[in-house]
Amino acid sequence: MTDMTGKVALVTGGGSGIGRATALEFAGRGAAVMVADFNLEGAQETARQIGAAGGRAAAVKVDVADEGSVKAMVAEAVAAFGRLDYLVNNAGISAAGPNVPLHEVDLKAFERVLDVNVAGTFLGMKHAIPEILKAGGGAVVNLASTMGERASAGDPSYSTSKHAVRGLTQSAALTYATLGVRVNSVGPGVIRTGMTEAIFEDEQTTAWLKGVTPMHRFGEPSEIAKLIVFLCSDDASYITGGYYPADGGWLAG
Ligand code: NAI
Repeated sequence: MTDMTGKVALVTGGGSGIGRATALEFAGRGAAVMVADFNLEGAQETARQIGAAGGRAAAVKVDVADEGSVKAMVAEAVAAFGRLDYLVNNAGISAAGPNVPLHEVDLKAFERVLDVNVAGTFLGMKHAIPEILKAGGGAVVNLASTMGERASAGDPSYSTSKHAVRGLTQSAALTYATLGVRVNSVGPGVIRTGMTEAIFEDEQTTAWLKGVTPMHRFGEPSEIAKLIVFLCSDDASYITGGYYPADGGWLAG
């Protein structure tokens, strides 16, 4: 894959799971990485791991649903590394608690998921893309989900948000298609991270999910990270506006 030495990546939600794996993958290709997360300690740990492996990284606290915070995050990335080439809008949440039917979902909880997953993705692009344009072009990857293609009963906010991320991705891709900024979304299947911890605690659900995944196994964060970094790289130079699942075959079924 194309060497990314001299490039700068900004990864939101980089303090754990898929975001941490993505930050490590970028660094492994030579890019400097600004690791942004609501959980600053998690982001600092990711940056520490990159530094220990000989890479360049820094950490910043952000709430992606807050415009002032996102603006400051982008400014900090540019101040630290002098430019910005890639943005990964990875920070995301699902509705808290066990699956509840739509008519019992609290409006505030529904809105918070949309604020983080959708407005957060919008705000990331709004403030990072001008910097990517200044750097001469680059790429954005937004985290959708298999739940951005299908839906699950009981968590309407999450499916709604991930469908919206795909639409937002396509709109942005069209806007910047001739300006050198490619914008794509990826759709992980079930990946072992903090977000899916509750699923793995329940043996029955785990067994069922494995059974309905054609590969009969769950994904690792690094398997999503490799796709994200490929989509940012020059090897993906003709790819924009797309949605790329990495789901062990789930959507084929
Ligand atoms: P995770 O929970 O390990 O990581 C999410 C990170 O986002 C956390 O470090 C958290 O602190 C951060 N975050 C949450 N709200 C934030 C906010 N308002 N501002 C800044 N940071 C915030 O979860 P995971 O699995 O790594 O999720 C990453 C992305 O992948 C999410 O967008 C998720 O929806 C998506 N995804 C995950 C799947 C899975 O099976 N794990 C499946 C499909 C999509």
